[in-house]
Amino acid sequence: MSKKAAPLLEVKDLSAAYRDRGGELCVLERISFTLQRGQFVCILGPSGSGKSTLLRVLAGLLPAKSGFVKLNGAPVLGPQHGVGLVFQDANLMPWRTVSQNVGLPLEVNVSENGASESRIKKMLGVVGLSRFSQSLPAELSGGMAQRVAIGRALIQEPDVLLMDEPFGSLDAITRERMGEELLRIWNLEHKTIVMVTHDINEAVYLADRVLVLSSRPARIKVDTPIGLARPRKPTLRYSKSFGQLAAKLRKAIE
Ligand SMILES: Nc1ncnc2c1ncn2[C@@H]1O[C@H](COP(=O)(O)OP(=O)(O)O)[C@@H](O)[C@H]1O
Ligand SMILES: [Mg+2]
Repeated sequence: MSKKAAPLLEVKDLSAAYRDRGGELCVLERISFTLQRGQFVCILGPSGSGKSTLLRVLAGLLPAKSGFVKLNGAPVLGPQHGVGLVFQDANLMPWRTVSQNVGLPLEVNVSENGASESRIKKMLGVVGLSRFSQSLPAELSGGMAQRVAIGRALIQEPDVLLMDEPFGSLDAITRERMGEELLRIWNLEHKTIVMVTHDINEAVYLADRVLVLSSRPARIKVDTPIGLARPRKPTLRYSKSFGQLAAKLRKAIE
């Protein structure tokens, strides 16, 4: 008998709320979805709908009010080793070199120090920064800084990479280039990625599947596969099927 592979991530009837002076602000309402290993999922939704909150609960940084998140079958009840995080700002330590920033998570495990250097070197290669290992953050462009942040998130070999508008502060051209870069890294590392973006075209170009959240409290409004062939090429953006998917998502958001 063949057993169906357990999903990497299972989200079931998840609700979340913030407490404020006026009482409780309900942000997520009964969100359910499962994610298979290796999938690239993008999350779209109106601003203030609860996208960042959803990532925070998935990462174990915010407790669920009801429902659950399971990673590899185990409930997520706090910060997880198996989860890597990338935010809009790279948040690098300015006095540390690129190499020292990428290696930061490894310093917690002192016993692994011997192996750290080779892992950092490998990761700098993955994110295309080998030549900049000794540079300081102030010497980097925005796109390079974000690649350092991605390297820092991946060096612990997380099962899933959660990204919250990672390219939101980059200009349009750099943003597209970073998308290509991310697909390259995704191919290399076979990671599962959940990425929040407000850019519909970016979501269609990158993802296997797009979830559209409703306005707050967020429910899943649309969950649609993106069946475009891979590898994706920049000219795909001008194809009819690409345009149709983007139009469908735009309608769902409005
Ligand atoms: N720490 C917090 N305390 C109280 N309310 C918050 C907090 N963080 C976010 N919110 C509120 O929760 C809602 C969803 O926020 P967020 O998840 O950041 O939305 P999005 O990322 O989709 O723009 C917003 O109304 C926001 O003001
Ligand atoms: Mg947000």
